[in-house]
Amino acid sequence: MSARIIHITGARPNFPKAAPVMRALDELGMDQMLVHTGQHYDDKLSEIFFRQLHLRKPDMSLGVGSGSHAQQTAAIMVALEAVFMEHAPELVVVYGDVNSTLAAALVASKLGIRLAHVEAGLRSFDRGMPEEINRILTDSVSDLLFTTSADANAHLGREGVPEEKIFFVGNPMIDTLLSSADRFDAGAVLSGIGLRATDPYLVATLHRPANVDDPASLTGLVDALVECAAIAPIVLPMHPRGARAFAATGILAEPGIHVIDPQGYLEFMGLVRGSRAVITDSGGVQEETTMLGVPCLTLRPNTERPVTISDGTNTLVTAETVASTLRERLASAEHAHRRTPPLWDGHAGRRIARIIGEQVA
Ligand code: UD1
Ligand code: UDP
Repeated sequence: MSARIIHITGARPNFPKAAPVMRALDELGMDQMLVHTGQHYDDKLSEIFFRQLHLRKPDMSLGVGSGSHAQQTAAIMVALEAVFMEHAPELVVVYGDVNSTLAAALVASKLGIRLAHVEAGLRSFDRGMPEEINRILTDSVSDLLFTTSADANAHLGREGVPEEKIFFVGNPMIDTLLSSADRFDAGAVLSGIGLRATDPYLVATLHRPANVDDPASLTGLVDALVECAAIAPIVLPMHPRGARAFAATGILAEPGIHVIDPQGYLEFMGLVRGSRAVITDSGGVQEETTMLGVPCLTLRPNTERPVTISDGTNTLVTAETVASTLRERLASAEHAHRRTPPLWDGHAGRRIARIIGEQVA
């Protein structure tokens, strides 16, 4: 089998970004193929997204699994080099900022295959984040750079990317949110932990290495979550990265904090939509809360998604400020006056497909 376009997915945030792009390319009748690197492999971090988002089954699964950055990136590169050489695509499409994104970008560019990066140009200016390295390097070798916000265009321009390679298309993750909103459903999850949909509750997710890898910083964060749980119960779908370290803090015995498995997209988004506020360090969740008008407290010193602060419901917090900020945000109706960021309108996938269709002659 060969295809003119090969999409690469690997980790949870890739799937809601790839789904609308692939759907729109299908509508144009483009010849495409999906390769899943297997960076994420648990059902709840991978397979369930294919089922819920009607994403076509991977044409090829590389099964690389977990490892150090070098091991994982290298394993993906070696496997993808063989795939790209065999199939000789005209274009490789990568998503976001995970190791699978960078690995595919390096391989495609060295084989002289044109590369499209969806969600290009985001910058936290924090090189301590592996994602920031992945973003900068991927953008530097990309031929088509699809951006979700105007600040991303400005960053790319400053880094010397020619204007004709940059396309401000909006946010495909928001396409997925809008097209599946009528299927969001947290009913079973909430009743499973003894909450009713009308009860006030908070959602928390934490998985950034800076937050969960260092036991001292994690203990401080858990203390802060306990303080927040006194305001409203917290539902915390646990990312596997932090699971063991979280358990060591004693969080599982906290009565106001309901630690549950990672959730499917529809269940998770149902939880977020019904919550009073979200406490997170996720990239995607900052955008989804902005779209849903749910206050978002981001436990990070910076964000590569500043439009979620300027236009949306996001606020950066620390372990020291999260509980007081939460009280303020819950008492204020300010988040109700947000505006939807430009082009977060459900049509990003189609814009991307149209441009790809013009470029892949
Ligand atoms: C990765 C991305 C991060 C993204 C996150 C989304 C990189 C460098 N990081 O982080 O940008 O925000 O995904 O969720 O690409 N594990 C499992 N089951 C799985 C996958 C992982 O148990 O299906 C465990 C393994 O112990 C693994 C650890 O999680 O070592 C970390 O996985 P990895 O993919 O390396 O990074 P994430 O922290 O998931
Ligand atoms: N998500 C989900 N279930 C969960 C947590 C997250 O479906 O339990 C979805 C949600 O749409 C989120 C996306 O997965 O935006 C990516 O999440 P993650 O925080 O893992 O990655 P990041 O965006 O930080 O790279």
